[in-house]
Amino acid sequence: MSNSGEAELLHTFKGIPFTTRSSPELLESLDTFDAREDDVLLVSYPKSGTHWLAGVITKLYNTQVTITSPIEFGDISRLEELDKLSSKRIIPTHLDYNMLPPNFKSKKCKMIYISRNPKDTAVSMFHYYRDNPNLPTVDTWPAFFDLFLKGNVVCGSWFDHFLSWEEHEDETNILFLFYEDMKKDLPKVVKEISLFLNLNVSDNDIQDICEKSSFSEMKNDTEKENSDPNHTVCALTSNRKLIFRKGAVGDWKNYFTPKQNIRFQEIFNEKMKLSKM
Ligand code: A3P
Repeated sequence: MSNSGEAELLHTFKGIPFTTRSSPELLESLDTFDAREDDVLLVSYPKSGTHWLAGVITKLYNTQVTITSPIEFGDISRLEELDKLSSKRIIPTHLDYNMLPPNFKSKKCKMIYISRNPKDTAVSMFHYYRDNPNLPTVDTWPAFFDLFLKGNVVCGSWFDHFLSWEEHEDETNILFLFYEDMKKDLPKVVKEISLFLNLNVSDNDIQDICEKSSFSEMKNDTEKENSDPNHTVCALTSNRKLIFRKGAVGDWKNYFTPKQNIRFQEIFNEKMKLSKM
């Protein structure tokens, strides 16, 4: 990674790297953000299936909902813009639990946390970094692998992020989902989401939502939406071809060397020793 690139594109707030598109003033003011009881938070570490989940959730509602760009993205005017939205807000965020505006916690807003095998997340993020001019340049997979393990990437350490949320897994307003479960049995997960959100959705509608949320359907939609950044959950690109890349489980096997796998596993075992995962 070039140092000049890193200096221009990232800054650190409370020990976590953010892109300069998340202004320090905005991050500072998150603590005062006025949550609404009916806000739904869609929480993830980057590249865990956020867009997929967002696509499913918006299709579940038959009333008007607005899916915003991530709460931590933009400058200070962003909070006012969110405040002005009159429809129900579905708010994505990559924030660590400890950085979440306290109002969301005290108002017991519903939050859905989606997680993914960190090895696949790392590979997905590598491509995203490589092809995205808004992120520092990463030349090779081994270089990115090191950065990922050190948590020296945007949104910080995967382990810290996951653990900060997992601690709250049993709270009734938080639903934990896994990308791999969505791949395995999407209708089951969609049903679970609809029950969590108290939405009455028929099995037929669930089937229909699943068909419209397949990787190929969503990727094709993307081409239509490319020109409109308002249609993207991703704050760092309006080119959604960067987001719908492969959509597979286990792509890490095409990138990790046996040595990298052992190193990853050792760090995983150490960091996650108190986790239920
Ligand atoms: P890959 O890069 O492995 O393909 P996020 O939305 O959090 O940025 O995550 C992006 C990842 O989710 C990408 O992974 C993308 O292909 C995958 N994804 C997006 N929509 C999907 C879908 N409908 N089915 C399966 N995977 C999907």
